[in-house]
This record gives sequence, C-alpha cells and structure tokens, in this order.
Amino acid sequence: MFELSTRTKTVAELPTQVYIEVTNHCNSLCTSCPLTFDHFLPYEPKQHLTWDNFRRMVDQLPAIERAVLHGIGEPLLNRDLPRFVAHLKERGAWVLFNSNGILLDQARGDALVAAGLDELRISLDAVTPELYARLRGVDALPRIMKNLQAFVARHGTQQPRVSLWLVGMHENLHQLPDFVRLGATLGVHEVYLQRLVYFGDGTLIDDGATMTKDQSLYAALEAEQQQLIVACEQLAHSLGLKFQASGATTPHESIAVKGSHPWQGCLRPWSLMYITANGSALPCCISPFAATHYPDIVLGNVLEHPVLDVWNGERYQTLRAAVLSESPAPWPCQHCGVKWSL
Ligand SMILES: C[S@@+](CC[C@H](N)C(=O)[O-])C[C@H]1O[C@@H](n2cnc3c(N)ncnc32)[C@H](O)[C@@H]1O
Ligand code: SF4
Ligand code: SF4
Repeated sequence: MFELSTRTKTVAELPTQVYIEVTNHCNSLCTSCPLTFDHFLPYEPKQHLTWDNFRRMVDQLPAIERAVLHGIGEPLLNRDLPRFVAHLKERGAWVLFNSNGILLDQARGDALVAAGLDELRISLDAVTPELYARLRGVDALPRIMKNLQAFVARHGTQQPRVSLWLVGMHENLHQLPDFVRLGATLGVHEVYLQRLVYFGDGTLIDDGATMTKDQSLYAALEAEQQQLIVACEQLAHSLGLKFQASGATTPHESIAVKGSHPWQGCLRPWSLMYITANGSALPCCISPFAATHYPDIVLGNVLEHPVLDVWNGERYQTLRAAVLSESPAPWPCQHCGVKWSL
C-alpha cells in the first residue's frame, strides 16, 4: 500500500484493483441513481460489455487482485457475466459485484457460483415493498426476497459471501433496524449502510430524485438518527451480524467529518481504475455520482489507448495532483469526506 508521502503524479505499476462496468443498462429506476435520469447518456451510449472488449481491458492489467464487476447499471443483465467472473478467478483475483437481485434466478445463481464468485452484494434500500417501489422505481421487493431465499437455501451465504446494502437517506433510515433483522432472517452475515453521494452542489437532477443534499445523512446527522445507528450496531452485534458502512469501520464513524482536507487521504488514483462499458477510465466509483459535468472526470479511453498511457496520461496526473492539493476543485474529490465519506 502507498504511503501518503510517496504518492507521485505518475505510477510505474498498473492498478491492481479494477471496477469494470459490465453494462450500463438497468431494469430499475432508483431515485438515487443518475442512470434513472439518463444523466450520462450523451457521453456513455447504452452498452453491454462484450467478451472481446472485456479481454482488451483485463489483458492489459497484469496483476488484478480485486475486480468489481459493476459500474452504473445492473450486472445480471449481461449474459457473459459468469464468463467474466470465471476468467478473473482463473487469474487469481477476488471478484465481486453489487446487484439489485431482480434477475437472480436459479440458472444465473448456479452459473455465478460455478464461476467462483467471491462476493454478492444485494442493494435493497428498503424492507417494505412500498418504500422499495418508491426508492428503487420498480415494485420488485417480493421477487428479490424469493430469489434471495432460494439462492441462500441452495448455496449458503459464504461462497460467495452474500451481503445486503442500504444507501442511507432520510426517507429510509427508520427502516434500518428491520434491515438488520432482515439480514439475520435471511441468514446473511453482513449488512452495510452506504453513504449517499449527490452532485457536488446538491443540484436536483430531476423531479423525484433523491440524489440530494437534503436526503444525505452525512455531517447533518440529528442526534436521534445517530442514536438509531448506534442502536442498530448493537442489534447487529446481538444477532451475530457484521454491520458496516462502506469506506469506514463503523456506520456512525463514516458519517462524521474527518480533518480539514479529507480527500488527501484517498489512495484510489494510485491503486485502482474504474472502466465504463464504453472504455472510459474514471477516478473511482464515487465520481460518476458526484460530477456535475461528466466529461471532466473522464481520464481517457482504454479501448482506444493503451491502459498504461491513460494511467500516466496528463488527465490522471492532474487528478493525482488535485487529490494531494488543498483545493481539488473542479474534481468531485473536493467533496469527499466533506459531503460524503471516502
Ligand atoms: C450504481 S449501483 C450498480 C449495481 C446494481 N445495479 C445495484 O444497484 O446494486 C452500485 C451501488 O450504488 C448504490 N447507489 C445508488 N445510488 C447511489 C447514490 N446516490 N450514492 C451512493 N450509492 C448509490 C446502489 O444502491 C448500489 O449499491
Ligand atoms: S442503483 Fe443500480 S439498480 Fe438502481 S438504477 Fe442505478 S444501476 Fe440500476
Ligand atoms: S472522488 Fe473521492 S474517492 Fe474518488 S478519487 Fe476523488 S477523493 Fe478519491
């Protein structure tokens, strides 16, 4: 791992962690997601990643230790997903993705298990069909529950490790205790509270969108909500579950502001690359949610140029300098650790 003091603008080694967006199509309409509002459509045409383009990406990365096979889109919509997983497993990587679980039928579940998937993360955001339909735009919770129960009965929750995820918003926080209990009922061992990311200045991208500052819990936690999170940590502990927030050790820690330049602690521009289904390289999985002007965060295209050229190109160097600076504007980095956790 990199020491803060040794981070330089160019990096000799290619990234060992990669996010690969296997599709940017989706079968949901989540109010928190820019895809629902076709926010990137002018820059990211709709695409399922093909096997050939997948190989063009991963063959250029000699040492992939961890591969996340989602970007902004629903991975189960790509029929080649188990083949991608199997290839990365043969290469020795730890492989995971997030999914809405709507298409997790027996055939897909079996194929992913046979391919050697390490982690399956199911995004729920609500435990009642009504709130689920309101926040995720489709009335699919009963079907997802059926899929999950069947998957767990057939394959257990350890290989792959199955976890449940909830993007924390004012609208759903009251369901957190039942979300933790649902994890226990399903036999899942891990549940996660994820930070809501929204466009830098809190712009409302469309009517009904919940990608807003008002919905975000970060740094605006009322005492009551904080107590609820602490109570859920205790509840999870008593049920034998791991309860965590992405990017931090415990949920309540992840939503407290740390230091005056928190983005400077970010190692992602030195350790990982996020590649969209069209080949665009982006700084991280947070940036597409946070960037007000999408072209600003595109660091190059790895289907058009060698990965190494992109990795050490001018745009990447500018990003690295920005993350190390006292004021990374116009990069979305300026809000990391300030408006959402790192
Ligand atoms: C963009 S989705 C792609 C994978 C899959 N479609 C899913 O929903 O799990 C990846 C993760 O981002 C989460 N997400 C959606 N909107 C978000 C937001 N505004 N801030 C943070 N995470 C968000 C989703 O719930 C999901 O866990
Ligand atoms: S969060 Fe996932 S399921 Fe929801 S619209 Fe975005 S990509 Fe689709
Ligand atoms: S947006 Fe945040 S997580 Fe992404 S590279 Fe910048 S500081 Fe790191």
